[in-house]
Amino acid sequence: MTGSDSTILLAVTGWDPDVWQSEFAKAAPGRKLVLDTKDANEKIRYALVWKQRPGSLMGLPKLEVIFSLGAGVDHIFHDHQIPDVPIVRIVSPDLTMRMSEYVVWQVLDHHRLGLRYRQQQAQKVWHEDRRQPAAHEVTVGILGLGVLGRDAAQKLRNLGFRVSGWSRRLQTIEGVTSHFGKDGLKDFLRDVDIVVCLLPLTPETKGILSMTMFAQMKAEGPLGAPVLINAGRGGLQNEPDILAALDRGMLSAVTLDVFKTEPLPKTSPLWTHPQVVITPHAAASSSPQALVPEIVAQLESYERGEPLKNIVDKAAQY
Ligand code: NAP
Ligand code: GLV
Repeated sequence: MTGSDSTILLAVTGWDPDVWQSEFAKAAPGRKLVLDTKDANEKIRYALVWKQRPGSLMGLPKLEVIFSLGAGVDHIFHDHQIPDVPIVRIVSPDLTMRMSEYVVWQVLDHHRLGLRYRQQQAQKVWHEDRRQPAAHEVTVGILGLGVLGRDAAQKLRNLGFRVSGWSRRLQTIEGVTSHFGKDGLKDFLRDVDIVVCLLPLTPETKGILSMTMFAQMKAEGPLGAPVLINAGRGGLQNEPDILAALDRGMLSAVTLDVFKTEPLPKTSPLWTHPQVVITPHAAASSSPQALVPEIVAQLESYERGEPLKNIVDKAAQY
């Protein structure tokens, strides 16, 4: 089968498919893209997915590859009926840069007391007596030293922070103190002032940002109690535990980009907590303009017989 006679299924929910479709039409004018398997299920060779409807990838006899339209793939595994074909995820300089911008922005905002100054401005209060720690006094710990965690770690190092990281297997990055595995988590937590979570949501990491974790962090550092930034997935965090840790002074502030339920329900107390910064799952959005040409390039190299890149480990689910 050639590229031009293979059909691509775009199976997305919660996102507007039009912009993906039009970028595809530009990048691969000869390929047919369908939004529905109806009448095409015998021809579909590739599926591009974001939170596909459960079961929607079954009954496609010619399906060869599933492409996640995001870096994370938990949105694929929430469907328990997935055909046994390779799953490829997004690894792209565009997405990595967006995430590093977000991490640097939030780390600097907490480091430079942004929450406090915005609250003071709202009350027209001039109060400047709090000490500003230098970056080299502050340890930023990154949970997840993968594609995104590594880049953020390097950029934070360049700003002068002390940086540490935690991963499943040992990862080595110049200038970054590495910890790994269940045993390494304790040492990692003991030393952090700002924790940035860039873990994938898997059966092993679900709910990891909990009171058990917060209780292992130091009580006091240059910024007061530690700060938590989660841009991984909402399922990693126990939201009542985060609120309790803030109210008990175990965490001094929190930035959350992701939530157990998205959109975050209006009834959530997180919305109005003075020490919580909320962004709407916007840390590193998938840009169709940047990503579609990269996906098309993968399709073309695959059809030339080259191996697929960025294949997901189905056992580990990331
Ligand atoms: P990645 O390259 O697969 O890296 C994942 C990292 O997490 C790796 O270092 C891995 O360890 C570590 N890890 C996985 N399971 C672990 C465990 N049980 N214990 C300790 N470490 C564990 O993923 P990525 O591209 O950096 O993306 C990370 C996540 O960011 C995605 O899965 C997604 O959920 C999230 N994300 C969010 C947004 C947003 O807008 N908020 C945008 C993009 C991505 P090893 O190095 O040992 O494998
Ligand atoms: C976004 O959340 C992604 O996984 O890329």
